[in-house]
Amino acid sequence: MTADAPAVSAQRVRPRVRLRPTMTSDLEFVLSLEQDEANLPFITPWERTQHEAAVRFPDFRHFIIEAGEGLEAAGFLILIGCRSRHQSLELKRMVVKAKGAGHGRAALRVAKKVAFDDLGAHRFWLDVKTRNARAKAFYDSEGFVVEGLLRESVRTADGFESLIVMSMLQSEFAARRAQGLEMAA
Ligand SMILES: CC(C)(COP(=O)(O)OP(=O)(O)OC[C@H]1O[C@@H](n2cnc3c(N)ncnc32)[C@H](O)[C@@H]1OP(=O)(O)O)[C@@H](O)C(=O)NCCC(=O)NCCS
Repeated sequence: MTADAPAVSAQRVRPRVRLRPTMTSDLEFVLSLEQDEANLPFITPWERTQHEAAVRFPDFRHFIIEAGEGLEAAGFLILIGCRSRHQSLELKRMVVKAKGAGHGRAALRVAKKVAFDDLGAHRFWLDVKTRNARAKAFYDSEGFVVEGLLRESVRTADGFESLIVMSMLQSEFAARRAQGLEMAA
């Protein structure tokens, strides 16, 4: 499954971004992004074997984010719960290499389209560390609603950190699409 974000949004020009299924040969890139000092504080990195399983397991979708004219690898994202009978899909992880270049927003728009249109999500949810102001502002601006706080639920070298749970329902996605805020069907 591949999906393209439109080059032009209602607000401004966005970079060309595409999602394609991750292959085992991409995992060095994925692991190096996870281990990058710029990303480590905001995620809980996986072992290679966990990514290998995620690439294969039918309930997961593991994508490489491709961006730019040459569609170079620009990041990755993982969806979980793709076969959930509750139609509740999780954006398990999303990391882009070049921050602030619009790749994240463009990729998230494609991920939402995949979740709601292709995978039949009723609810699309994620969690974000309270210290991750950039990502929290990003998800807010993309219409995700705060559900609550998982207090001190992640143990790191610096102590316990809290997670904010956020979600979007299919009806909210449809309303945003009607306003031109999401990719067309
Ligand atoms: C979070 C992440 C995926 C966002 O992708 P990105 O390509 O950097 O984001 P974009 O350039 O598309 O910007 C999207 C929005 O994020 C917010 N944002 C970006 N940089 C920001 C910053 N330094 N401070 C606050 N908000 C910021 C803004 O709302 C921005 O929208 P705007 O440019 O229209 O104002 C990316 O920064 C990343 O990989 N971070 C490290 C890993 C991570 O935190 N993953 C998410 C875990 S839940």
